[in-house]
Amino acid sequence: MLLITGACGYIGSHFLHHYLAQTDEKVVVIDDLMLGHVQAITPDIAPRVHFAQCRIGDREAVAELLAEHKVDRVVHFAASAYVGESQENPFKYFNNNVVQSLAFFESLEAAGVRDIVFSSTCASYGTPAHTPIDESHPQMPINTYGVSKLMIEHALRALALAKGWRYVLLRYFNAAGASASAAIGESHATETHLIPLALAAAMGKGPALKVYGNDYPTADGTCIRDYVHVDDLATGHMRALDLLKNPRMPAAACLPASDELGAVFNLGTSKGASVLEVIKMVETVTGLTVPYSFAPRRPGDPAVLTAVDERARTVLGWKAEHDLESIVRTAFAWEQKRTY
Ligand SMILES: NC(=O)c1ccc[n+]([C@@H]2O[C@H](COP(=O)([O-])OP(=O)(O)OC[C@H]3O[C@@H](n4cnc5c(N)ncnc54)[C@H](O)[C@@H]3O)[C@@H](O)[C@H]2O)c1
Repeated sequence: MLLITGACGYIGSHFLHHYLAQTDEKVVVIDDLMLGHVQAITPDIAPRVHFAQCRIGDREAVAELLAEHKVDRVVHFAASAYVGESQENPFKYFNNNVVQSLAFFESLEAAGVRDIVFSSTCASYGTPAHTPIDESHPQMPINTYGVSKLMIEHALRALALAKGWRYVLLRYFNAAGASASAAIGESHATETHLIPLALAAAMGKGPALKVYGNDYPTADGTCIRDYVHVDDLATGHMRALDLLKNPRMPAAACLPASDELGAVFNLGTSKGASVLEVIKMVETVTGLTVPYSFAPRRPGDPAVLTAVDERARTVLGWKAEHDLESIVRTAFAWEQKRTY
């Protein structure tokens, strides 16, 4: 059975719904609800979800779950994911993203569970030496969040070498959008993502948007990011699980240096949108005005972050289907009827 960590969070909940829609199986979910929402396990899927509210590093609880449900593979989303907070409180990130994950991996190893899909991030690359960024771009993260994710990439590589773990690393770019039904969507107590902030500003639910920097070397002077729909991320995880099913994917193929099966993938669209382009799309989709003002650049914000998606296309058979318009439309529908 599949175990999903962090499935009450934003990306994890979209994958959870997608997985259950594509299979007849049941799943085990671990989430401590520190940031997630149990409402994301909606009544239509609840009978097929065994939900455990605990931390992934709770060895006793995790060992019990693994034994009781015969877990054989894992999709691991649970983490703290605020770049700014990771700089203010690095030890929170070392503890929650690294120490907790390592304790969790020890429980998995003890139970003989060695197949895993891991949520990594474009933040592990640091300031890009070139864009778009491919998977062999140097990884020199410039914040503790990115470092914590890279440490787990290395831990998985070590476990592949030492114990035969098989892993797929998915380095997402900027997750955005919401499910087509608007039954689930993005809900962070402290929102830092551009699209929900722009929507909240337009809908009068939040303050005017701050646009950090209008003097970048881009066409309109604002930062460019690669926005990828959260449902596209969900299908990327399905393809990653398919890859793990392939018995010909030996542990050695997981090594980042190996291009044989390429178990490290960027998940992005290969297209970027500037902050002003996003604002314009929010205004077009909603028919509302986004109040905004320019503020100074934030340290550590690169001008452009976009993905080369070729490896995901050729090896995983995955390509983002949603464009920026679809991302904003689904995010707006969610904002209008959100239940949590
Ligand atoms: N949102 C993005 O744009 C983005 C981009 C790249 C990578 N990622 C990665 O994707 C994953 C999911 O991100 P998200 O935006 O859905 O975050 P989120 O905060 O919405 O979800 C994380 C979930 O994990 C749970 N959790 C955190 N620590 C836990 C622990 N120790 N034990 C049990 N549960 C725990 C939280 O309660 C929450 O439900 C993270 O690993 C993040 O680093 C996100």
